[in-house]
Amino acid sequence: MQNIFLIGMPSSGKSTLGRELAASLGYTFVDLDIRIAEDQEMTIPELFEKFGEGYFREVERRLLLGLPPDSGLLVATGGGAPCFFDNMDFIKKAGLSIFLDVPAAELAGRIRAHARDDRPLLSGVSDLEADLEARLNARRAFYERADLTIHAGTDIASLLQLLRNSLKHSR
Ligand code: S3P
Repeated sequence: MQNIFLIGMPSSGKSTLGRELAASLGYTFVDLDIRIAEDQEMTIPELFEKFGEGYFREVERRLLLGLPPDSGLLVATGGGAPCFFDNMDFIKKAGLSIFLDVPAAELAGRIRAHARDDRPLLSGVSDLEADLEARLNARRAFYERADLTIHAGTDIASLLQLLRNSLKHSR
């Protein structure tokens, strides 16, 4: 079974949706950020603080490229993962990619409703929505290379149908 990659901004729903999709499709859910934290034996904010973003991106890339191919993995990537190095080329080759396209205003609302401390790139930001908008615009060209784009509010049943069809055709 080919791997599936969920890509998109922080709080676009990659982990939540990823868990649901994996359970429904019989895939194994992998959260790349959790893999990174386990590999480095520290939290993502600690990693950023101690070694900086450049180091984090190196580890992120190593673990992304190290995922076993065709293993029925449903991978929730970190928001920046497709946008560094040639990671998106790898994602495109390694399986089916899905971009969760959620507007900046909605992302900001979701992030405000939760703690921001676990997202080092957003923790010191004064205008959250403007920052997310700028970040999303800068990243859109990478995200839009995904095989499928899912918009906020798509219900899980239609998404599963779409995925099953795409998986069938790409076999
Ligand atoms: C990041 C998003 C985070 C995490 C890291 C950097 C980003 O993952 O990988 O803090 O660059 O957008 P989530 O998208 O799961 O929040």
